[in-house]
Amino acid sequence: MVELHPAVELPLSTDELEELAEDMKDRAYAMGVLIRPSKHRTIHGPITLLPSTFPRLLYNKAMQLQTDINLLMLGISKDDEFLYAALKSVVPVDEFTRRLYEMHLQVKKEGCFKPVTLCINRTDYMLDCCKEDDEESFLDLSMVEINTIAAGCPALSTRLVDVHRFSLEQLGMSREKVLDRVPGNYGMEGVADGMVTTWRLYGETKAVLVFVVRPEESNKFDQRWMEYGIKDLDDRVKVIRRTLPEIGERAELRGDERRLFIDGMEVAILYFRTGYSPIDYPTEMEWNARLLGERSRAAVCPSVAMQLAGTKKIQQVLYDPGSIELFLKGKQRVDDVRSIFTGHYTLDLTPAGDEAAERAIANPMKYVMKPQREGGGNNLFGEKMKEALEKLRGSPERAAYMLMDRFNSPVNHNYCMKCGSSDLELMTVASEFGPFGTLVSYNNEVVFNKTTGYLYRTKDIKLDEGGLMVGTGFLDTPYLSSAEVICPSATQNGFGEH
Ligand SMILES: Nc1ncnc2c1ncn2[C@@H]1O[C@H](COP(=O)(O)OP(=O)(O)OP(=O)(O)O)[C@@H](O)[C@H]1O
Ligand SMILES: [Mg+2]
Repeated sequence: MVELHPAVELPLSTDELEELAEDMKDRAYAMGVLIRPSKHRTIHGPITLLPSTFPRLLYNKAMQLQTDINLLMLGISKDDEFLYAALKSVVPVDEFTRRLYEMHLQVKKEGCFKPVTLCINRTDYMLDCCKEDDEESFLDLSMVEINTIAAGCPALSTRLVDVHRFSLEQLGMSREKVLDRVPGNYGMEGVADGMVTTWRLYGETKAVLVFVVRPEESNKFDQRWMEYGIKDLDDRVKVIRRTLPEIGERAELRGDERRLFIDGMEVAILYFRTGYSPIDYPTEMEWNARLLGERSRAAVCPSVAMQLAGTKKIQQVLYDPGSIELFLKGKQRVDDVRSIFTGHYTLDLTPAGDEAAERAIANPMKYVMKPQREGGGNNLFGEKMKEALEKLRGSPERAAYMLMDRFNSPVNHNYCMKCGSSDLELMTVASEFGPFGTLVSYNNEVVFNKTTGYLYRTKDIKLDEGGLMVGTGFLDTPYLSSAEVICPSATQNGFGEH
């Protein structure tokens, strides 16, 4: 197992740890790194005590690639032929994808009434240890997935930088070094900038920006901070919060231009922080909300086509040679994006799908099986994956999934603090880095395309997935290291000598 140098020497002494835990907890509250697990309870979010190491070069690479990934996703969302060809085996066997796809076709037939498009994406990466023993290229970025709907935590991640810089300073690191190693995060301001740009282009000062949320929203403060970021940029923008059933019941389209109104207010933007899972659509009312938004003049973030572009199946098809080239011009740009793709394999009922499935059954620890779902907890690993593949042998239902190489991630060590608690546990962890990308296009011309901050999160390596809201993942900040990022003296279970 490859280990990375921690930001400071570990473990900390008991006294140091107790004091720092209290300091950090208070700072997290003061900076508003908050979640709301239930209506009357607000607590600090799950956080690591220290920033976790990440190679500077790979941080720069991920941040730089994001604007091309934004263009790639926009291109896919507009390419009906590509969407059809990629999703044709999934649509008959996955009800949720089918409904989205049919809605896309239905609205497409009516023609597009939207002058402005807003896309907010997050590309998640883990570090992957290459097989070659070549020090220079030992670690690389491997893409976990591209999120095109409800990419969460741009604001809490932004707020957390201050908390983590403070933690290193409390441990005696100079401010100069801290500022060099812990990069700023402008997720909140950057994403808000894209939203305000969209709102201005929509061109109606009385129109509101609607955050589409779940009724009980534990990540409410991340959303609230976004709202305040928007207000800071342009005080004319009014943000309101509505649920899918509220929109389905109370919204309407008015006039030939199909302006969307809710509760007497015109809507400029519907920004979805929900709507990515079948459980968000218990009745036809929620689907109706989605359809109204799609048919209207309002910018919807994301459009149904963009949500489809973010499915795992599309990602798998992009791995096929020649796919990325359809959307990005220039060999270097294509090669750079291609370099983040680890192996992705079809599980369609074809000879290639059969072959991939048998390979995974024979080597269950080497692959991950993914359905077309978002929100965590849906992927299949190890024995569960093997069992599922055995069950699905010869069944067209297998096409609802795709297969991916499992990463061999290096590990960090860090203390992790659960929501609302000051208890700390020293854990062996793996981290996931996700730059946000925001793109706005107006009358089919891209007018805003930026990398807008990042999310960094960390989980116990014993777990296959780490979920922030379910208490198994922790918000983190990268500690950028240039040289000797890998612990040379690391042993299987120990910390090495750092
Ligand atoms: N190829 C892989 N190798 C190892 N772990 C993986 C791999 N793909 C995914 N994971 C783990 O599973 C988690 C969830 O994967 P993924 O992001 O594909 O699912 P999701 O349901 O879309 O999650 P999210 O809620 O983060 O959008 C990742 O955060 C990572 O910890
Ligand atoms: Mg996802």
